[in-house]
Amino acid sequence: MAISTQVVIIGGGPAGLLLSQILQLNNIDSIVLERQSRAHVLSRIRAGMLEWGSVEVLRAAQVSERMDREGAVHEGSGIAWAGRSRLLINTQKYAGRSMMMYGQTQLTEDLYAARDDLGGEIINQVDDVRLHDLKGERPYVTYIKDEQEQRIDCDYIAGCDGFHGVSRTAIPESVLTTFEKKYPFAWLAVMSETPPLPVPTYCHHERGFALVSKRTPMLSRYYIQVPIETDIDDWSDDRFWAELTARLPKDYAETIVTGPTIEKSLAPLSSFVAEPMSYGRLFLAGDAAHILPPTGAKGLNLAISDVHYLSNGLIDHYQNNNDQQLDNYSTTALKRVWNAARFSWWLTGLLHKFPDQTRFDQRAQEVELDYVTQSIHAMRSMCEQYAGMPLE
Ligand code: APR
Repeated sequence: MAISTQVVIIGGGPAGLLLSQILQLNNIDSIVLERQSRAHVLSRIRAGMLEWGSVEVLRAAQVSERMDREGAVHEGSGIAWAGRSRLLINTQKYAGRSMMMYGQTQLTEDLYAARDDLGGEIINQVDDVRLHDLKGERPYVTYIKDEQEQRIDCDYIAGCDGFHGVSRTAIPESVLTTFEKKYPFAWLAVMSETPPLPVPTYCHHERGFALVSKRTPMLSRYYIQVPIETDIDDWSDDRFWAELTARLPKDYAETIVTGPTIEKSLAPLSSFVAEPMSYGRLFLAGDAAHILPPTGAKGLNLAISDVHYLSNGLIDHYQNNNDQQLDNYSTTALKRVWNAARFSWWLTGLLHKFPDQTRFDQRAQEVELDYVTQSIHAMRSMCEQYAGMPLE
């Protein structure tokens, strides 16, 4: 027997959960279909740096209580470059916007709790989700739950099912254009229950890139650039800390507190953008439409800005019978996505050591960094983009 709702949301990550929350606050019904169990979704450790525009969207969506209590507001991030003076990307000073450090895992917990409080419908552990009649007036979604096929009729479908989801593949190949760039290295990440260094800092070093970051006063996140073919089992904690400290500036290496890691993972770096982000009554949001290297900290922020534009469009449709924002959704969202994609590509290129890097490339990186350090215009441009372009 078919049930019906206004919007079916495929994927219960941050994008899908936030969309369902904003829609419900505006009296629009939705059902979220998530392939994994809730416990699995909440065990994933991902991003942690929120732009101020994202903070404001989360506040308006009434999921900010814990973030405002526990998140760390800071004025920007550092860049350390062996043999050069430390640079602070001071987004507060040069772009008028702070950043908020708050883990995606915690945010996802808050979103699930908020959905539970409002009685939102999330169906976990669904299989074989399929999208139908996307070009018709009344699309529908089928899926398997507990070995039974189910069907939900709806007005719209939101594809928030991440990079490996099914939604994007429902758009015919003849319509979809994809842009991709793969980097010849990965990031090896660890989490440790140790006090973090005070300022999140990107470190360029001839041994390779490193990043020091944090989640809470007793939870640190560290990354090092490694070859793409790295086997994570080759990296004991001792080896990780030795390599990390070798790449850090001296004062950081001397003050860092190391300890047993509680998580270790490997992430290849790539950029991917799919255009358009809509097809008939399907709208893609978040990683379903784009992934970026983590260097610019844009992935989670773009998921939030996509949801901001999409929810505005759906609210305007249901409350004012106006489809203009929905019709423009893909164009509006992609403008911001491409800005972030270009910035992440630039920052990745500036800070990493490439396997085929020549002396010329190395010198060009150094000169670029000197330019940002010395030119107020270059510094403002960098800070504006790191802080995130304002939401339209
Ligand atoms: N059916 C139902 N759910 C699915 C399917 C499917 N076929 N495929 C994937 N999913 C679910 C995944 O299990 C996941 O929980 O969709 C969800 C997508 O969530 P995310 O991958 O977290 O993507 P998104 O919500 O767009 O959030 C973007 O995640 O990877 C980071 O850097 C990224 O921080 C950014 C954030």
